[in-house]
Amino acid sequence: MKSRLRPGSGRMSLLVTAGSTREKIDPVRFISNYSTGVFGYEIAREAKKRGHRVTLISGPACPEPPPGVKVVEVESALDMGRAVKKHIKKCDCLIMAAAVSDWRAASPSKRKIKRGRKNKKLELVENPDILRGLGKMEKKILVGFALETERLADNAAEKLKKKNLDLVVANKIGGKTSPFGRNPTEILMLDRFGNKSILRNRTKRELAGVILDKVSELKLDNKFSV
Ligand code: C5P
Repeated sequence: MKSRLRPGSGRMSLLVTAGSTREKIDPVRFISNYSTGVFGYEIAREAKKRGHRVTLISGPACPEPPPGVKVVEVESALDMGRAVKKHIKKCDCLIMAAAVSDWRAASPSKRKIKRGRKNKKLELVENPDILRGLGKMEKKILVGFALETERLADNAAEKLKKKNLDLVVANKIGGKTSPFGRNPTEILMLDRFGNKSILRNRTKRELAGVILDKVSELKLDNKFSV
């Protein structure tokens, strides 16, 4: 595929995460969420089209990988955290679009858990926050996502600060259409300078372009240049 960028004219190495994670309960069951991976895959696809180098860390059951994109498949949040730490060293920007499971089973069973007891209790432990665990990465652009039912702007601002991010993309849930999958969606973008934009009823493909434009803009006045 032909690159739209000339070497040295803004080409970046992007690390994108997508999809859900699966947290094992026993060999046949897991905890997960409704994320389909479409948003992260569209970002990876558009980034590749623009001539960036792209590595996609993908949770299970995601769409067909975009052509030319290196895909690292992971299952759990802990796997995803390890993969991010390994690949981020060579990247200029991390776009953390994955819906990482907040909890995992404290002690997953090696054998299938049988029915029979009326009140089976499942103990959960919190997964580490991958983005937060990276700390302040002076020379990297860090982009987080947020899926919220309310207080979109307040939650986005809170995440930006707490997770040391350069940009937050907050996606609304609870409207007429589900934000999961290929439905058009509404986002609020908030950058580290306090610039805010709201985009309504856009496809994830369109939004992928808008997010990548913003990342390039942040990179220009950033911390580093290529
Ligand atoms: O789950 P939460 O709303 O905090 O997610 C916000 C951002 O943090 C997302 O970009 C998500 O990928 C990231 N995240 C993470 N590690 C987690 C949970 C979320 O990096 N354990």
